[in-house]
Amino acid sequence: MKILVIGGGGREHAMVWKLVQSAAVEKVWCAPGNDGIAQEIECVPLDLKDVKAAADLAEKLGADLTVAGPELPLTLGIADEFARRGLTLLGPARKAAQLEGSKIFSKQFMERHGIPTAAVYGICESAAEAYRALEAVKWPLVIKADGLAAGKGVLVTESPEEARQFVGRVMEKREFGEAGGRVLLEEGLAGEELSYIILTDGKDFLRMAPARDHKRAFDNDEGPNTGGMGVYSIDEILPAALEQKIIETIVRPTLAGLAAEGLPYRGFLYFGLMLTAAGPKVLEYNCRLGDPETEAVLLRADFDLAQACMLAARSSLAGFEAKWLPGASVCVVIASKGYPENPQTGVAIQGLEDAAKTPGAVVFHAGTRKSSGGFCTNAGRVLVVSAAGENLASARRQAYDAVRRIHIEGAHYRSDIGKPRSAKGRAVAENRNA
Ligand code: AMP
Ligand code: GLY
Repeated sequence: MKILVIGGGGREHAMVWKLVQSAAVEKVWCAPGNDGIAQEIECVPLDLKDVKAAADLAEKLGADLTVAGPELPLTLGIADEFARRGLTLLGPARKAAQLEGSKIFSKQFMERHGIPTAAVYGICESAAEAYRALEAVKWPLVIKADGLAAGKGVLVTESPEEARQFVGRVMEKREFGEAGGRVLLEEGLAGEELSYIILTDGKDFLRMAPARDHKRAFDNDEGPNTGGMGVYSIDEILPAALEQKIIETIVRPTLAGLAAEGLPYRGFLYFGLMLTAAGPKVLEYNCRLGDPETEAVLLRADFDLAQACMLAARSSLAGFEAKWLPGASVCVVIASKGYPENPQTGVAIQGLEDAAKTPGAVVFHAGTRKSSGGFCTNAGRVLVVSAAGENLASARRQAYDAVRRIHIEGAHYRSDIGKPRSAKGRAVAENRNA
């Protein structure tokens, strides 16, 4: 099997890392990839916005399967383009990718299909409308830019002043561009979050090991929302009864809803869940694997990912069993100085070789490029350092052991990924969400 992976971040590095372990895989390319991935496999230039160029590339390379990593090409119709040309791609068509591409589309989809989610306070088409709507909401309030904003277009707040400022940034200053043309105002939910990710052929599905992301920039869930600062995966966060409930009330109704609306779905589907006192509720859908969930979860995957992807893309997952290693995995994101608001790039990275020698640890490149004599930072999220262990404590120890060997001037990472939360930490988080 020859596989082309589209994308160039830590998630794609982890996918490549896993795919090349498959006995059925002869060749893997990554487009555009990054200089870290290029140390392992061939990377090919590609503009992620150009879905025609992606299909040209798959044709030219003779890829048997193309796997789309990030949301952008999916929301731009990469799957539609491949289908038109009879090329095999894993990922939903443009219309179904709206589950991620438009928070308003996904909210209305959930309402149509009775899928538990936060109550809507308003859907606003202009800043004036949003300011008016703010007069009649309950607090804490969540404001979401409708379109893609790399995880940063969401504000959870109890402050009317902060809410007004955010509306101004999103709808008037257009900090997230077109994504801020409409906003969704919704109920703030309280609870622990869970990333539940499936791979589906539209009917049958297998699930990834359960994972918990850390969206806030700093320890104890302080600071702004980011694309994700680190993840841990252990089975204990998903007891069997909870999983059953998630499947019955969320996963099955979502797959049935997609089918009923004529939106066939082959690919990864990510349910961002809040485990509330009233049961699991959907915060968001993503039409792809999570980043950085993938960098933690794939360390526990004990099955042939290439085969699973091919089955989901082309035939059926019925009868395919995905095994997961017991124990735990953890990944820690090392972010540039200034991330998420204003990340600094071009800063030298030291200690990569030393980190790679840490027993059990794997260093995935998210936003790096080669510079004289080594690597430097090239994006907000720079490296994702992962480790698996027999329990959470050992996975954490190994991951942080490797993290501490890496030096990037001004960079930051969270030191509490997978750490049992203190009563104080919980109180802070609950107070914000309650
Ligand atoms: P989203 O991109 O919609 O997942 O939002 C990003 C993050 O914002 C989530 O992972 C949550 O931490 C938070 N969030 C989103 N929606 C809500 C909500 N209704 N209540 C509380 N927190 C939320
Ligand atoms: N880690 C959250 C996401 O991939 O959107």
